[in-house]
Amino acid sequence: MTPLPIRNSWVLVTGASTGLGRASALHLAALYQAKPLIVGRRLDNLLDLQAEIGARFDVPCEIIVADQREIDGREKIAARVTELEVKAALLAAGLTSAGPFDAGRANAYAEVIETNILGFTDLLARLVEIFKRQQSESSIIAVSSLAGETSVPFQAVYGASKAYVSNLMRALSVELAGTGVSVGSFAPGGIDTDMAALSDLKWGKLGLMDVDRCAAHAIHALVHRRSFAIPGMGNRLTYLASRALPRSLVSRLAALPYRRPQ
Ligand SMILES: NC(=O)c1ccc[n+]([C@@H]2O[C@H](COP(=O)([O-])OP(=O)(O)OC[C@H]3O[C@@H](n4cnc5c(N)ncnc54)[C@H](OP(=O)(O)O)[C@@H]3O)[C@@H](O)[C@H]2O)c1
Repeated sequence: MTPLPIRNSWVLVTGASTGLGRASALHLAALYQAKPLIVGRRLDNLLDLQAEIGARFDVPCEIIVADQREIDGREKIAARVTELEVKAALLAAGLTSAGPFDAGRANAYAEVIETNILGFTDLLARLVEIFKRQQSESSIIAVSSLAGETSVPFQAVYGASKAYVSNLMRALSVELAGTGVSVGSFAPGGIDTDMAALSDLKWGKLGLMDVDRCAAHAIHALVHRRSFAIPGMGNRLTYLASRALPRSLVSRLAALPYRRPQ
């Protein structure tokens, strides 16, 4: 597919207050002079990012403070996307819950499911509807995870939520073919962000991908309208091995980086 021309266009980035979303917004402004429309719940973080984008790249950047779990948050995002004629969207907002499954409780799991599945799905449906109505072509990449391609003990609900994202995007990439709206999923392994720090990994930062490098891959997938992309050779080999080996063995291997309860 030909790359989507996004220079000087607005691009929605959710989950922009930290981590991969933040790094992706900076990459969009730096490499494409694309104008990031950044979303998150933490206004201070978004204001810092807006100031950095303005100062370093002289590119306009707009903020939406919104909770993806709330319908009014999603309505706010959709309204601004329509007004600004946004051309592409990187959906990076996400939440994890790590630890033994039975140590988690309904509230924590509800938050993960409402953010990664329910809120995400409704926002995506709104964006597809808006993009379909536009004259120009558009692209959406949802950030999934390698955790969604396998099963992940000690982060099981999160992994299952990302399996949902991957599965949904695979179906939509076919359903929307020929509409001018390209959709796909992006499946990183561990990234060196706040989320990885919260996951209580045994080997610390070992094997985690640098967030700026990961963001460059994510934006490449967005611009090149990939239906599925995995950043980095190590992650791609892990993915291929996970397809070739027995599933039970893959799940046992996936548990290795996590601390087991004593
Ligand atoms: N870190 C990893 O190892 C890893 C690996 C594979 C995939 N991923 C995926 O990569 C994406 C980015 O994660 P990250 O690693 O950059 O972690 P992060 O730094 O924790 O970023 C997550 C972002 O999601 C936003 N968010 C969370 N809940 C939200 C809600 N209810 N409404 C709106 N925004 C919400 C957060 O902003 P606010 O709190 O300000 O709202 C934050 O900006 C996620 O989808 C994650 O699942 C991460």
